Amino acid sequence: MEPLRSSILAAADNDLIRRVVATAPGTRQIVARFVPGETVADALGAVRELAADGRCATLDYLGEYTRDAGLVEQTVDTYLRLLDALSVEGLSGSAEVSVKLSALTVAGDEALAARNLRRICAAAEDCGTTVTVDMEDHTTTDGTLRVVGEARRTWPWVGAVVQSYLTRTESDVAALAHKGSRVRLCKGAYAEPADVVHPDAHAVDLSYVRCANLLLEGGAYAMFATHDPRLVGLLRQRTRWYGRERGSYEYQMLYGVRPDEQRRLAAEGETVRVYVPFGEQWYGYLMRRLAERPANLALFLRALASR
Ligand code: FDA
Repeated sequence: MEPLRSSILAAADNDLIRRVVATAPGTRQIVARFVPGETVADALGAVRELAADGRCATLDYLGEYTRDAGLVEQTVDTYLRLLDALSVEGLSGSAEVSVKLSALTVAGDEALAARNLRRICAAAEDCGTTVTVDMEDHTTTDGTLRVVGEARRTWPWVGAVVQSYLTRTESDVAALAHKGSRVRLCKGAYAEPADVVHPDAHAVDLSYVRCANLLLEGGAYAMFATHDPRLVGLLRQRTRWYGRERGSYEYQMLYGVRPDEQRRLAAEGETVRVYVPFGEQWYGYLMRRLAERPANLALFLRALASR
């Protein structure tokens, strides 16, 4: 992993840095670029804004590595309220939800995570939409795939996420690349030890393309999550090469990142889904966005200095 990226991700875990960043006057301005707000109403507002130019959404209630059972219950409750609101407002055709298992459980209790995921999936089914389970750091990959596999026995549409930076991912994709399987392919956003990841960015990109080929060839519903213009160009060729109809795959990008490209793809008839995080616990999410792109970090430092 590049030194700047790994330093920012390491700093993200430091309590002092967390306090400084959270209370700095310029922080709000940067957060607002990536997180449209804290409430269910803010999330619905973002869905409407995206739907206005043909973009779909996947909504993520922010929170991860929860240590408190009360907070877990509050997270599940927020997802249930969100899904109900999507249905009432007639927005379930434009939005699904993304969940992190570490926000649905405490102390890594997999059975609790699975139970809470089932509650959210049942509500999504009532609302007529789908759920995708985000992938977190590599220590959680096996457990997450297990829980997703179990949920898929009742709800085959539950989306799995794979990360091309992990060396194991091609074999995971081979098992997931079948018809009807919804799979989000991303590069991966966590600070990982060298022995589980590809050695450099180029190798991660090559792995991404190999995984994309497997998904397209196997008939899976591929969800290509990347802002990388080279990869998007290549994926557009590959989808044609594999004879994929539009609507049998989609592109996904993050809220606030390359919005013009999102609109351009949607205007050309591609399905584009925007990952919309909302809620108060934006810190970990923001730090991963800063780590991904030095220009975001520069923007952040300028905003801090201008106060
Ligand atoms: P990368 O960061 O390598 O950037 C490549 C190029 O893209 C840049 O050189 C630039 O041209 C362009 N670009 C990137 N960011 C830009 C910006 N801010 N502005 C303008 N151009 C920019 N991760 C994970 O571990 N688990 C998960 O569940 C998910 N889920 C997820 C969902 C969705 C919808 C997305 C888009 C991403 C994720 N991710 C994720 C994050 C993902 O793993 C990855 O960290 C980021 O998408 C960044 O990787 P890129 O593929 O965009 O390319």
